[in-house]
Amino acid sequence: MADITINGLTFEPHITRDEIDAQVQRVASEIARDCTTPNPLLLCVLNGAFIFAADLIRALNMPRAEITFIRFKSYEGTSSTGTVKEIMGLNQSIEGREIIIVEDIVDTGITSLQLRKMLLEQKPASVKMATLLFKPESLKQGTPPEYVGFSIPSKFIIGYGLDLDEAVRGLPEIYILKENN
Ligand code: IMP
Ligand code: MG
Repeated sequence: MADITINGLTFEPHITRDEIDAQVQRVASEIARDCTTPNPLLLCVLNGAFIFAADLIRALNMPRAEITFIRFKSYEGTSSTGTVKEIMGLNQSIEGREIIIVEDIVDTGITSLQLRKMLLEQKPASVKMATLLFKPESLKQGTPPEYVGFSIPSKFIIGYGLDLDEAVRGLPEIYILKENN
C-alpha cells in the first residue's frame, strides 16, 4: 500500500483489508452473542457506514437480522462543524425492537448522542452502537460505543466508506492524514 494524495492532502496506509475483516468478524460475533432477539434491527448511519454495514450484516450470521438507513451530516472538509443535520429520517416503527446503530466512526460523539436520544423517544427494547472506528480522545459527549472495531488516534482518516468531501469512500483500506501536510 502506497501513500495517496487527494485534494492536496497526503494520506498514508493505516489499516489493511485483512485487519478490517478480522475486526468486523469479531464485532459481529460479539453482537450475535449479546442479542436477546432473533431479529435485531441494524440502523446504518449514511453515508459513511454503508460499507461496514454491508460487511457486518453478512458476518452476523443471523438470518432474521434486518437493516434500515438514516442519514446525518456533521463534517465539512477534515473537521466537525459541531452541529448535526438530519437529512433522511427513519420511516418505520422501532417500538420494542433491539436496535444496533451502525456507524463508520465515533469522533466527538455528537451524532451518536443525538441519534440515541431520538431513538429512545420511540421506545425500542434497547439501543446499542457498533462503530468500526472510535477516536476515544475526541469524545466530548455521550457514552462510548458498545462495540468498537478499532480505537484510533484523533487524526483524520479516509477509505472503507469514510470520505474527504465525498471522495474516496471506495478505497478498500483505511488511510490516515500524514503529519507533514
Ligand atoms: P461525531 O459526531 O463528531 O462523532 O462524528 C460523526 C461523523 O463525522 C462520522 O459519522 C463521520 O461521518 C464523520 N467523521 C468523523 N471523523 C472522521 C474522519 O476522520 N474521517 C471522515 N469522516 C469523519
Ligand atoms: Mg458518519
